[in-house]
Amino acid sequence: MKTSEVMTSKLAMELEDKYGAHNYHPLPVVLSKGEGVYVWDVDGKKYFDFLSAYSAVNQGHCHPDIVNALIDQSRKLTLTSRAFYNDCLGSYEKYVTEFFGFDKVLPMNSGAEAVETALKLCRRWGYDKKGIPENQAKIIVCEGNFHGRTITIVSFSTDPDSYGGFGPKTPGFITIPYNDTNALEKALEDSNVAGFLVEPIQGEAGVFVPDDGYLAKAYKLCKAKNVLFIADEVQTGIARTGKLLACDHENVKPDMLILGKALSGGTIPISAVLANNDIMLCIKPGEHGSTFGGNPLAAKVAIAALEVIKNEKLAERAEKMGQLLREELSKIKSDMLVLIRGKGLLNAIIIKPKNGVEAWDVCLKMKENGLLAKPTHQHIIRFAPPLVISEGQIREAAEIIKKSILSFE
Ligand SMILES: Cc1ncc(COP(=O)(O)O)c(C=O)c1O
Repeated sequence: MKTSEVMTSKLAMELEDKYGAHNYHPLPVVLSKGEGVYVWDVDGKKYFDFLSAYSAVNQGHCHPDIVNALIDQSRKLTLTSRAFYNDCLGSYEKYVTEFFGFDKVLPMNSGAEAVETALKLCRRWGYDKKGIPENQAKIIVCEGNFHGRTITIVSFSTDPDSYGGFGPKTPGFITIPYNDTNALEKALEDSNVAGFLVEPIQGEAGVFVPDDGYLAKAYKLCKAKNVLFIADEVQTGIARTGKLLACDHENVKPDMLILGKALSGGTIPISAVLANNDIMLCIKPGEHGSTFGGNPLAAKVAIAALEVIKNEKLAERAEKMGQLLREELSKIKSDMLVLIRGKGLLNAIIIKPKNGVEAWDVCLKMKENGLLAKPTHQHIIRFAPPLVISEGQIREAAEIIKKSILSFE
């Protein structure tokens, strides 16, 4: 392509199709700009972003404080690797551990890497502290989970699209139904269990909100068996569900907390595992790491991203706006809309296909009408706008959703 060539939607899609791996099935819209709750396509059409890059853009697109932190630091020093100290990481480590109330943090990049880190830490703790015989450690996971795409993580996925054709699977995991404390209690009878890995709300599975009390009961059961409670809050964390962490709804303090996505406000990949010393110090120098994890750019960006969450009271806003969104959606009278569920601004609707019209078609119609969202699994559409959304914008967006669904009546 000549640099002078105008990037049309058609060309952008053709290029991705021809030169990129076909590992995604995007909605046919080509975006070139974002600000707050809005994104614009290459033709200048404006949309509400109701996906927020899978909850990475909680602070809104291109938040000026986060972008400024990114630009300022990128002019000074971006990467040293952890072979040397840098003048940003320590301050970030102090900031983030105090922010979430843990002794220590292990910085990584993608969410999947942070999950892998937590799994390694959990196994190591199981051997060093719990006394599990060598190579016998097990970790309990839930049906319908989504924790990323690495070989080990897909090994304990129950979604054939995730694990199919990628065997052999990594051993050492026990799968139980989600939202089932009886099954957890039974699985915990195995004395080789080191940890229980759980999403406080299953996001990718379709925003499955467990029963009230599930997390607190699960935590208590884990404690009774000296098993680590590991919360994957990569999607639910950082104010998305109306509290800083989804675990806060039940006053549960996980033994290990996994964060990603909105830790950078959607600018660069930043993830983290937080834990106290008795767990975190099980890993010794040289036993785990990442070239980019803890880089000075990430350190500055993450502080800025968390400051925005705090200063703009985004957890409270998510709680209020989420209630309003569900209220507005519940006014839509259509037999295609069978269920609305969620917490804070992590929500989903379930679509009953009608006359060949499926969730995908509803998303295409919403796109036409100026709102972007995507089905997760065949008939579920997630609604997770940036948390900076205003009351007026919620009402306007709900009107677009209504109009789109009713257009199929
Ligand atoms: C709960 C959860 N964990 C982990 C991940 C993986 O994060 P990443 O895509 O950054 O590897 C995701 C991504 O959607 C997620 O929702």
